[in-house]
Amino acid sequence: MIIEPRMRGFICLTAHPKGCEKNVSNQIEYVKSKGKVNGPKKVLVIGASTGFGLASRITSAFAAGAATIGVFFEKAPEKGKTASPGWYNSAAFQQEAKKAGLYAKSINGDAFSDEIKKKTIDLIKKDLGQVDLVIYSLASPVRTNPRTGITHRSVLKPIGQKFTNKTVDFHTGVVTTVSIEPASEEDIANTVAVMGGEDWEMWMTALSEAGALAQNAMTIAYSYIGPALTEAVYRKGTIGRAKDHLEATAFKITDNLKKVNGKAYVSVNKALVTQASSAIPVIPLYISLLYKTMKENKIHEGCIEQMHRLFKDRLFTGGAIPTDDKGRIRIDDWEMRDDIQKKVAEWWEQADTETLPKIGDLAGYKSDFLNLFGFGFAGVNYAEDVNENVPIEELQ
Ligand code: NAI
Repeated sequence: MIIEPRMRGFICLTAHPKGCEKNVSNQIEYVKSKGKVNGPKKVLVIGASTGFGLASRITSAFAAGAATIGVFFEKAPEKGKTASPGWYNSAAFQQEAKKAGLYAKSINGDAFSDEIKKKTIDLIKKDLGQVDLVIYSLASPVRTNPRTGITHRSVLKPIGQKFTNKTVDFHTGVVTTVSIEPASEEDIANTVAVMGGEDWEMWMTALSEAGALAQNAMTIAYSYIGPALTEAVYRKGTIGRAKDHLEATAFKITDNLKKVNGKAYVSVNKALVTQASSAIPVIPLYISLLYKTMKENKIHEGCIEQMHRLFKDRLFTGGAIPTDDKGRIRIDDWEMRDDIQKKVAEWWEQADTETLPKIGDLAGYKSDFLNLFGFGFAGVNYAEDVNENVPIEELQ
């Protein structure tokens, strides 16, 4: 079939298999061009099919030569209906890993469930014995807690008071004012239940109890801080509470992993266009201003550049892992630079529908958004009939 983007708000209903393949091969080329990382050898990536998780998997495999097991929750293709992009990304990743002679297997299912945890641990035990790195990179709006059976839904709301600020519809470039009512206590608890550290801890406990963690194993989850501009809706909002919980969980996990001298870290990453971040009001406007100034200063990065730098300059330098005063790894250092944030704050004041094309990188935002779904890649013939029914090899 000929596949075109079909947009619905901040989601695209279609994905292009050849474009997703290109997305994956571009990322692989990038890490290869940067040379080897003396990194992990057996890696489990939870949330491995898109965004930071996919980039972590690619860096583990193609920069460090690691065997990888990837867990994700993606929609398979049906006749005449495309799969979700993470499906095609994973199909492409598996192909490339095979070509490179790297062990890679994938599991598609709900990582929050006991069933998928067990399936993953059984596979590790059977094929790898143990893993030395666990990347936890889930972004989900919903989680069913396997202990209680309760389904929690996360919300993106401010806490304490109503929040009003600018936002942009990145499809049209129209800047408007958005107001978001404050969260209830229940909203906060639900968001922490979905995006906090409880499930990460469950994974690490299960892996540890099964003897599936190597001596000195490490686990990393991803967080975000951002500037004062987005604070009310992000870091001091419901999602921020979940990130506080995730960050606190790192210490708990480290305590629990004493037996193998394991360590849990949170890495604070840069704001980037992913399926998860496009859904947060205000963030797309912030990102388009941020991209503009970071590109002008030649310090712009995407997921793969971020993850490669995380591995090479933070995690696997051969020395101690640098952290901030709260024990977090900071790879958002360039985003948070004073000159960058000063510029964004200045432009924020000026931003409206008329000025945005000049002061913001809306084109870059849109192009990154299309890329998430495999559209807009040079070297892909989008007029060509393609087979939507692409299987993922080594899917367990
Ligand atoms: P994403 O939406 O690109 O990726 C999410 C991944 O989680 C996918 O592989 C998806 O299949 C998987 N997933 C979702 N629900 C699942 C489930 N129930 N079972 C199994 N897999 C499931 O998200 P992104 O942006 O890469 O986020 C990953 C982490 O990075 C999140 O913790 C996010 O808060 C954090 N982060 C994101 C930033 C951004 O600007 N995008 C900035 C800093 C941190």
